Amino acid sequence: MEIGLIGAGAIGSVLGKAIDQMEDVERLYIMDKSRERARTLTESITKGVEIDDLEDLLAKADLVIEAASQEAAKEMAPRVLDRGKDLMLMSVGALRDEALRKRIEALAKKNRCKVYIPSGAIAGIDGIKSSSEDAIEEVKLITTKPPTALGGIDLEGIDLKSLKAPITIFEGCARDAVRLFPQNINVAATLSLSGIGFDQTLVKIIVDPNATKNTHKLIARGKFGELTCEVANVPSPTNPKTSYLAALSAIATLRNALSPIQIGT
Ligand SMILES: NC(=O)c1ccc[n+]([C@@H]2O[C@H](COP(=O)([O-])OP(=O)(O)OC[C@H]3O[C@@H](n4cnc5c(N)ncnc54)[C@H](O)[C@@H]3O)[C@@H](O)[C@H]2O)c1
Repeated sequence: MEIGLIGAGAIGSVLGKAIDQMEDVERLYIMDKSRERARTLTESITKGVEIDDLEDLLAKADLVIEAASQEAAKEMAPRVLDRGKDLMLMSVGALRDEALRKRIEALAKKNRCKVYIPSGAIAGIDGIKSSSEDAIEEVKLITTKPPTALGGIDLEGIDLKSLKAPITIFEGCARDAVRLFPQNINVAATLSLSGIGFDQTLVKIIVDPNATKNTHKLIARGKFGELTCEVANVPSPTNPKTSYLAALSAIATLRNALSPIQIGT
């Protein structure tokens, strides 16, 4: 098969190198708005082909992987599915837009395509999916990040660089968390989609000056019982906002999609 990759950053680079080793994949078309990033990744692998036009990529690829940004996801996802191609979405926060989510679902159904959403930087999505088959009372995500993982974000009145103790910078529903922190809390979107939705899923974001890892603690209660799941993620060296596990999860999702045996819920 032939794959198209949009975004050759922290996730795209790790994923591209793994795809290069996959027997089932003949060619990887790489597109990035930074020509330099697309070229660097293309030249570091054997199956890579640099491409700069989405229509050219869609003419060739059987499956398209978005690992770029929410804006890219919004713009490209409907076009990918309209052309009858399968899609993997990393910027899953884009799906808090109900109209876009419904459009994506309708196009995928009409054209018999699959949309893959990796569990990303969080663990426990399997449990949330299974437990959501009956009543759930609470799903809560507590995320703790070092200040570098929030890099560049404007928090009124808070200087993250001179922080001495942990502070809670957000507490509320997943829809607002994803809107306010589009590059930092995609996991809240994945969690919402797999469980009780963007308005019922609760999120707390803590910035801890002593933290070195991005920690996601998932707590759920329902008819099934209780679930607590915590993962302490190593940040990606090239983008501290992104956890390395997110890239590994994209690789695992692709491998699962290509495999005749499907493991997990
Ligand atoms: N699902 C998850 O759990 C999870 C976890 C981490 C990151 N993410 C998301 O995945 C996406 C990629 O993350 P990353 O760490 O690799 O980011 P990154 O910033 O390291 O790389 C993104 C790359 O995409 C390129 N890009 C951006 N917009 C583009 C466009 N419209 N067309 C073509 N190229 C474009 C950029 O130039 C950059 O090279 C981000 O949206 C991020 O928020 C999701």
